[in-house]
Amino acid sequence: MKNVIAIDGPSGAGKSTVAKLLSKELGFDYLDTGALYRAVALGLTKGGIDENASDDGIAAALEDIRVEFRDNRVLLNGTDVSHDIRSPEASHFASVFSARRPVRAYLLGIQRDAAMHADLVAEGRDMTTVVFPEACAKFYLDASVGERTRRRTLELSSRGFEADEDRIRLDITERDIRDSRRALAPLRKADDAHFIDSTGLAVEEVFEKIIGIIREDAKDRPE
Ligand code: DC
Repeated sequence: MKNVIAIDGPSGAGKSTVAKLLSKELGFDYLDTGALYRAVALGLTKGGIDENASDDGIAAALEDIRVEFRDNRVLLNGTDVSHDIRSPEASHFASVFSARRPVRAYLLGIQRDAAMHADLVAEGRDMTTVVFPEACAKFYLDASVGERTRRRTLELSSRGFEADEDRIRLDITERDIRDSRRALAPLRKADDAHFIDSTGLAVEEVFEKIIGIIREDAKDRPE
């Protein structure tokens, strides 16, 4: 495995923005694993799979699904779905299907494979705990629900989606509960992850904190 900087945290904590800045600074590839879960969920719903499907049904449907994350774009069976996966419905189904065993097993290999070919800044919910437990630096990024709601609202409206703040607050709370209480790879802070609360911080400030820690840690690591 190449070098991996692993970042976990809930929706709206600022992971993507800071992960992209870090990948530029370090010359690492950026891996948005939420985008992979979103694309798989889109593929499943398009294939007629709903929340009540059995694991076998989901596993069979996955055989016809191919997802790739390339140059910050997400491809589902070769089609760019980078915009479609950002809708509130796609967020909901990504959270629902990401709790299912066949989906997690399917994406585990794809994510680890990405780290065989390039140094990575990888962000998601289980980067530090399950996918890359040997990452060279681990971070858990969080922010208050109010701040995360404001960020998601801005993000959705800038992408042209309807963005009602009360609805988004509810969605975020519902997803937090589902993503952190599920049995498989729940969202949690790894013991050896640095905790960063980005409430009230500008992106640049979060970036400076993280890059500072990465550089300090690198000094302590044997050559
Ligand atoms: O980061 P995001 O909001 O794009 O992620 C969408 C959903 O995918 C999230 O609600 C939970 C799931 N997810 C996951 O279970 N594991 C990951 N590593 C990344 C995302």
